Amino acid sequence: MSSGARSHTVPAADRVAMSLPRLQEMKEKGEPIVMVTAYDFPSASVAEAAGVDLVLVGDSAANVVLGYDRTDLVSMEEMIVLGKAVRRGLKTPLMIGDMPMGSYEASNELAIQSAQRLVKETGCQVVKLEAGGVSVERARAIIRAGIPVMGHLGLTPQTAVALGGYKAQGKSAKAAIKLCEDALALQSVGCFAIVFEAVPAEIAAAISARLEIPTIGIGAGPATSGQVLVFHDLLGITTGHMAKFVKRYAEIHEEMVAALGRYGEEVRGGSFPGPEHGYAVDSEELAEFRRYLDQESLVANSDWDWEPLV
Ligand code: KIV
Repeated sequence: MSSGARSHTVPAADRVAMSLPRLQEMKEKGEPIVMVTAYDFPSASVAEAAGVDLVLVGDSAANVVLGYDRTDLVSMEEMIVLGKAVRRGLKTPLMIGDMPMGSYEASNELAIQSAQRLVKETGCQVVKLEAGGVSVERARAIIRAGIPVMGHLGLTPQTAVALGGYKAQGKSAKAAIKLCEDALALQSVGCFAIVFEAVPAEIAAAISARLEIPTIGIGAGPATSGQVLVFHDLLGITTGHMAKFVKRYAEIHEEMVAALGRYGEEVRGGSFPGPEHGYAVDSEELAEFRRYLDQESLVANSDWDWEPLV
């Protein structure tokens, strides 16, 4: 650790496994809930060590990990590979599996099957799906099948085109009323929490105050029960355009490029690897091996019958 830097690792003994009753208690006591996304073993391990409460294997993986330009392009198979890796790195946070576009909208049966698949194959404890409307019915079906559901309202990236692009939602009174109705509907079918994305702070605050369940904001102001950010955005691994709501707590992309640059320089300049990066051999063993190599008969006696590949 550099001088002056503080460790933010939460000792394993102080970490308490997150549960739905504990989450509800945090909302009721006004204890802020910390949520972050993760997509693999290292990011999950970082979230675990930092003591976050909720970890979402988000379909934002499409953009930040898989290089697609839209979240709706990620498949269930890809989400499962990522989710399995996250599971191996998590012990205490509640693990949320994001249902990718196309895995739940068409019918309640499809929604239940997809949610069960995500839970059984990745080990996530709960699932998240986007939007109100028909998603309320899908959430009800999944919850009745025994899997807890988190809702997601406001800017819902899976349907961003229909929403007119990646922009704040709920800015007119009419849109805010629709947002409030969707939130109440998701609560009434049993969702344990709702994400509000890119919603004016005062609208998110007013709706949160009406809800009994926790709300988690991303670009929704400080009055939600908790906050979520995308792992790669908050660490500065993502480059290019950032949404207004992103705060970068580090510039890891720059650090990684600089570190790889130094590595390249040292390999090309011959200063890496140094003696400290290698393994020693006993001098007598080495001498004996050299005597073996020096035998004149070595090549002549070789019965290795080889042919060139081309
Ligand atoms: O996929 C994701 O990362 C999300 C969060 C922004 C909530 O849905």
